[in-house]
Amino acid sequence: MTAPADAATDRYEYNPFAPDFYTNRPFEIYRWMRDERPVYHSERWGWYALTRFDDVRTVLLDPDLYRSFEGMDIDNTFGEQMASGGSLPNIDNPRHDEIRAIVQPWFLPRKVGAHEDAVRAVVRSHMDTWRSRGTVDIAQEIAWPTPFDVFFSLMGLPKEDQADRDQLETWVHGLKGRVPGTPEFTPEAIDADKNVRDYFIRLLQDRRTNPRNDVLSTIVHAKINGVPFTDEHIVPAAEVMGLMMVLFLGGVESTAGLIGTTIKLLAENPDQRRRLLADPSLIPVAVEEAVRMITPLQLTARTVMRDVTVHGVTIPARSRVVAVTGAANRDDRQFENPDRFDLDRGIVRNVGFGEGIHGCLGAPLARLETKVVLQEVLPVLGEYELAGDPVFYPSSPNMYVWWNLPVRFTPGA
Ligand code: HEM
Repeated sequence: MTAPADAATDRYEYNPFAPDFYTNRPFEIYRWMRDERPVYHSERWGWYALTRFDDVRTVLLDPDLYRSFEGMDIDNTFGEQMASGGSLPNIDNPRHDEIRAIVQPWFLPRKVGAHEDAVRAVVRSHMDTWRSRGTVDIAQEIAWPTPFDVFFSLMGLPKEDQADRDQLETWVHGLKGRVPGTPEFTPEAIDADKNVRDYFIRLLQDRRTNPRNDVLSTIVHAKINGVPFTDEHIVPAAEVMGLMMVLFLGGVESTAGLIGTTIKLLAENPDQRRRLLADPSLIPVAVEEAVRMITPLQLTARTVMRDVTVHGVTIPARSRVVAVTGAANRDDRQFENPDRFDLDRGIVRNVGFGEGIHGCLGAPLARLETKVVLQEVLPVLGEYELAGDPVFYPSSPNMYVWWNLPVRFTPGA
């Protein structure tokens, strides 16, 4: 039986498209959803949202019932930017596993760990401009540029050409242009998508003739069951382009979000920050606690293949189901005092990097980058504090990322 959504008694509307949703008490709305509407039906957008930890895990761990062929996004990303195929979170098995196997070896913890010195050099280079200044925009001057640079070197993108890099950075932000409050892209975002694809096609074609020991060369020379993954002539809608886009976009924005969020949380919890400074071995715990508390990817979507009844509500076959990971990670059925940033919690299982076959490929890299940033930045920032209002990054309705995060500190203290 389907329990009707009783709009008259709804205290809140869950609308992640609202431009101020994430800056206006999202965690209060999540709590209400978990307690009062564990199966929330959005009249406005037509999907069902699950917010309890166990329910979200059930979705992530059953890829046959909850499928990905209509994409993980709830805006028009799938239709307008990712429809070409090859984008791992938007493909079901068996193709998903075949494509993931091509790139997986490059992202295993040990392989990624070998880049630690290079990551540290990147972080230090970005600190040189502000370490003696006393103020810094953490988002612009460390959280965003670090994953951009790390990804450039890891993927084997040309470092030497700064103009190309700057241009790519502009397009990547341009890609995010949404008509405010709607699922739609701006014309500029559609243009930027085309430009990024053309750029990647040029790079892949280059690696075909000049192979190196890098991710791009692996991708362009890969075969699946003896069949080349990449056609001789790469077109923007090719599967390989979907893979390139998700590696690049997945690799930069979410990591920028995590770095900014962690430093903000530590500004707001000075007692925990002092503990980290005194005992840097706790840094991986702080990273995980930040992923849990303010999950950079707040939601992911699936299509349910048959009628399912959850907490008395029947979700009809072919409905879109939104797994709100950002809410699940604050569920007090799973975590004691979930709204507290608490290093004593240790590293606890959470769904911030997803789970199951679509679990985040880049989690080891994101963890490494955030750890190195904290190791380098915290001793320099010392007793820092937020210096003004942070500015939220206008992106897809899935993401919790800062664009400006001004911080004040005493140089050399
Ligand atoms: C803090 C940073 C990051 C967070 C919070 C994050 C989060 C996630 C989550 C929650 C998923 C699962 C999506 C789903 O189930 O639908 C995912 C998948 C994915 N992530 Fe990340 N991610 C981060 C960084 C990265 C990085 C650095 C890369 C670079 C390679 C990356 C690449 C991917 C890919 C390729 C997938 C799809 C995996 C698949 O479907 O098999 N992510 N990520």
